[in-house]
Amino acid sequence: MIPDKAPKEDVFHGSEDLKKEAHITSFENYKELYMKSIENPDEFWGDVAKDFFWKTKHTGQFLDYNFDVTKGEIFVKCMEGASTNISYNLLDRNVHERKLGDKVAFYWEGNEPGDELTVTYRELLQRVCQFANVLKSQGVKKGDRVSIYMPMVVELVVAMLACARIGAVHSIVFAGFSAESLCERIMDSQCSLLITADGFYRGDKLINLKLLADEALQKCRDKGFPIEKCIMLKHLSKEAEETSLGSQSPPAKRSCPDLQEKQTGRVKKTRPVPQVPWNPEVDLCWHALVRGASDECEPEWCGSEDPLFILYTSGSTGKPKGVLHTVSGYMLYTAATFKLVFDYQLDDVYWCTADIGWITGHSYITYGPLANGATSVLFEGLPTYPDVSRMWEIVDKYHVTKFYTAPTAIRLLMKYGSEPVQKYKRESLKVLGTVGEPINPEAWQWYYNVVGERRCPIVDTFWQTETGGHVLTPLPAATPMKPGSATFPFFGVVPAILNESGEELEGPSEGYLVFKQPWPGVMRTVYGNHQRFETTYFKKFPGYYVTGDGCRRDKDGYYWITGRIDDMLNVSGHLLSTAEVESALVEHEAVAEAAVVGRPHPVKGESLYCFVTLADGVTYNRTLEAELKKQVREKIGAIATPDYIQNAPALPKTRSGKIMRRVLRKIACDERDLGDISTLADSSVVEQLFQNRCCTAV
Ligand code: PRX
Repeated sequence: MIPDKAPKEDVFHGSEDLKKEAHITSFENYKELYMKSIENPDEFWGDVAKDFFWKTKHTGQFLDYNFDVTKGEIFVKCMEGASTNISYNLLDRNVHERKLGDKVAFYWEGNEPGDELTVTYRELLQRVCQFANVLKSQGVKKGDRVSIYMPMVVELVVAMLACARIGAVHSIVFAGFSAESLCERIMDSQCSLLITADGFYRGDKLINLKLLADEALQKCRDKGFPIEKCIMLKHLSKEAEETSLGSQSPPAKRSCPDLQEKQTGRVKKTRPVPQVPWNPEVDLCWHALVRGASDECEPEWCGSEDPLFILYTSGSTGKPKGVLHTVSGYMLYTAATFKLVFDYQLDDVYWCTADIGWITGHSYITYGPLANGATSVLFEGLPTYPDVSRMWEIVDKYHVTKFYTAPTAIRLLMKYGSEPVQKYKRESLKVLGTVGEPINPEAWQWYYNVVGERRCPIVDTFWQTETGGHVLTPLPAATPMKPGSATFPFFGVVPAILNESGEELEGPSEGYLVFKQPWPGVMRTVYGNHQRFETTYFKKFPGYYVTGDGCRRDKDGYYWITGRIDDMLNVSGHLLSTAEVESALVEHEAVAEAAVVGRPHPVKGESLYCFVTLADGVTYNRTLEAELKKQVREKIGAIATPDYIQNAPALPKTRSGKIMRRVLRKIACDERDLGDISTLADSSVVEQLFQNRCCTAV
């Protein structure tokens, strides 16, 4: 359990100034509230719910659940019987009740310095209403699934909140995913409409998103799942004001007529724009549709447990899981975690560098900040473009007070030393955060000493797509920090550490990280496959939600995530399943079998090391290596590009034919201490693999 007193040694603190304004000011204060949150969750979350608008009140228990598969179906229900609308709470309530209409919701900062836009809460409300009306006019109804494949632009937020406004379920696919991945996700969630953009730049690289979207839709058609509508935003190309393009009057040409122009509305730099293929039977122009739409739209009042969104995360079988979150619990949880973990104050300028295509962006760019009426920076670009000072330039430009990024970005920037950071003042910064993977103490220290100048606490937030929001995390003014530890549970969260036999370990210990009871933001099911939900998270240890992460608790009760203990890899904070990459590799005709393991990487956390056994008669060479790399990129996306590919004439297998990945991990790292390998069918394979190791990344 949580200690009564915080330790005094080997810990770090934020500045005293922060304590003066903080919501939770001391460790004692945290502990007291934490006890209330688990002893009386109804009262704790009931207080949070008072800040929101409910069309009808809840009737049953505040949080009702079964976490034990031996007792029947797993379920979690929060505020059953209540009805509300999340976009109403994020927008109308802030504009009309809280009088925040003129407050900036987003400072959009484009890939290119100088590309910028400011959007107030009032403008965001109008744009969401307009687009909600567009969706309705295209026949989208409550409960329908809408796929969104867009770059980091304000319209992405508009599209997701427009879905929420009419009760449609958004399924955002990260714009770095391939056409194949998009197709798989569209089909799994049976989406009726796709929203995309012409393209975008990542640094100097043009991503022709519409081409990929078209390819995905063609694949859907080929597999018997035709999508009839695709709305395209012109982000790079000139906006549609002067064009004849419209849903009613499709252009005669096969390409969008005004897309060849070089200069654009908000993207100032003159750059080549993508050649956008245009299919008048399917494609609709965002701008033309919006132009005629009313900016008022009565929200659809949704039940608390109605679905809000589906977001896919890698699954250990290789097929991504559609994690489903519902309206009320997710709203309360993202709002409360945002407020308390970043110690949000009304005059803050907050910046989360994640992409909205991941859960971090859903919860901590869109839903949590807007629920609090916060001002955020929405950044389209890269930390290294046009140079490695970009982040700190933006911090100074907008006077960012709370900054949230990933360990992989910190490690990347750390390589360039402190000079690019110190070129900028960063005086506005008050709280720093990290997410996505364990942060090594060296990177933590650099973040704390160089970026935050020893003044800013670091909230190392552990959570998952499935948890909806932070579950283990420091509170900036209350929790003494230990570099590399996500410290203690958030309110309402009860962690435990189990051994292999499922026994709860007390005191300092190491084992499986599990949670004993739900919190409002936990996922409700795997879309279309409740059984998979139960098997993945609840079967191994009945009565507990199993995170899949290993964890250590130290003598002071601090939790330290040790990494995944299933067949998952964490590359730059993004989860990939080994099975997913393996199946992409074996789809190549030259590959008979593949096994993929993680190898530690100084910036990305882990890199992909792939062992491939070739089909009879095929010889290994650089051309094949390049083809395999391309194959994985095309099947999954650039994040899954293999770093190493090794020709493996045979793989180390047990007598029952199971690949011993533990041994492969050692080979990848050139570690000879293999432990017990007596169960291997043929141990000579191991020596052969050591001799053929790849030493350089492909
Ligand atoms: O392994 C943990 C790691 O990221 C996994 C969740 O990945 P995903 O669902 O993609 O969500 C990432 C953003 C919330 C976890 O199971 N992870 C996330 N945050 C941390 C972490 N590992 C250690 N420390 C963290 N702070």
